[in-house]
Amino acid sequence: MTLNIRALAAKCCYAVIDQGRSLNDELPKQQDKLIGKDKGLLQEICYGVLRYLPELENDVRGLMQKPLTGKQRVFHFLLLVGVYQIKYMRIPDHAAVSETVAATKVLKNNHMKALVNAVLRNFVRARDESAEQVETQQPDPIKFNHPGWFIKKLQAGYPEQWQNILTANQQRPPMWLRVNAQHHTSESYQALLAQADIDIAAIDPLSQAITLTKAIDVNKLPGFEQGWVSIQDAAAQQAARLLDCQPGDNVLDCCAAPGGKTCHILEQTPDIKAMTAIDIEASRLTRVEDNLARLNLSAQVIAADAAKTDWWSGELFDRILLDAPCSGTGVIRRHPDIKWLRKASDIDNLVLLQQQILANIWSLLKPGGTLLYATCSVLPQENAEQIKQFVAQTADAKLVSISEPQASAENIGWQILPDEKNMDGFYYAKLVKTH
Ligand SMILES: C[S@@+](CC[C@H](N)C(=O)[O-])C[C@H]1O[C@@H](n2cnc3c(N)ncnc32)[C@H](O)[C@@H]1O
Repeated sequence: MTLNIRALAAKCCYAVIDQGRSLNDELPKQQDKLIGKDKGLLQEICYGVLRYLPELENDVRGLMQKPLTGKQRVFHFLLLVGVYQIKYMRIPDHAAVSETVAATKVLKNNHMKALVNAVLRNFVRARDESAEQVETQQPDPIKFNHPGWFIKKLQAGYPEQWQNILTANQQRPPMWLRVNAQHHTSESYQALLAQADIDIAAIDPLSQAITLTKAIDVNKLPGFEQGWVSIQDAAAQQAARLLDCQPGDNVLDCCAAPGGKTCHILEQTPDIKAMTAIDIEASRLTRVEDNLARLNLSAQVIAADAAKTDWWSGELFDRILLDAPCSGTGVIRRHPDIKWLRKASDIDNLVLLQQQILANIWSLLKPGGTLLYATCSVLPQENAEQIKQFVAQTADAKLVSISEPQASAENIGWQILPDEKNMDGFYYAKLVKTH
């Protein structure tokens, strides 16, 4: 079969939006059929369509008599793929139109050829007018390209900053590296990057994080195979520092997969007594094992439910990281499908699950021990409100202040907003068990 990148992109977006699949699962399946730069082009188109979905759907709606339904839905996504290229990519209009029209053949529906051709040509003609409309008169979900329920929650939580958060979510995320302290300091690795002509955009003075001016293949990074460096956002790299493990500590990472933070903690403090890494999804734990192996680290990896104790050996922990299952609303710039896969009703369920895990895992912490609660969410319900309630209900829990300026006592924990210092949206709260 002839491969057509636009057809693969339409299939991918259809799987995400109409079938509720995750882009992380679907994209690699389609990318595996391609080689070299085509993989990147497919990714760019899929990410773009999901970033601008309401706006693109609005553009297409205006050019059709009736929407495409049923078996024709994949062509609805093909039209979005076409419009996205014309609006946002540096592909000449005629090439974007003809490649997208050619996809109808690969998708085995020649009837659609005329329709796709007509809609895209009409779009090119009307483009300037419709672009202006989006800017000015459209309702918020189309103007900001986010679901209405999420915009309302942000407006309530961040009356001043909600628009900035939505704009940040539309940006392309930077590539952050985590230097393995077992092999290099941030400075010595920066020197290796300079020797390899890889440009650094910024460094995080608080962690081992270095961001590059442009994303590159990991295999081009000095020492990647040998474990000198990993890919991890700087916001996620704050966890190891804030947890502040000490030699001899018994440490639990209770929602560990794929193991980014587990490995970072072990790189920073190899002389802890033991690291137990659990996750409810056994299939995701193979990623933890792979990461540990690449970095030459070891942990006890267990498939288990952190809301239960049936996996526990009976020895209390000095330090616990709870990187809780959450809405992922802080990492939309990296995973634009989150906007469409998450539903308003998920949030209450997640808040409940976080509460259950927190209460259970607290009982495994030694008196005097520290628990670091983390989410990659921007919703106060999952973050400051969650912790405020936990502290109010838990006699032996004390909130410890995190020294970053935004993490003042009245803020309850440290909320990092997306794109703040180039970082992902993240939340941290540090709790100590008083007795
Ligand atoms: C935010 S991710 C963790 C990311 C990880 N800490 C890292 O840095 O690579 C949350 C994880 O929680 C896991 N999870 C969800 N519910 C759980 C439960 N009840 N018990 C244990 N793990 C759970 C999910 O499978 C997911 O891997």
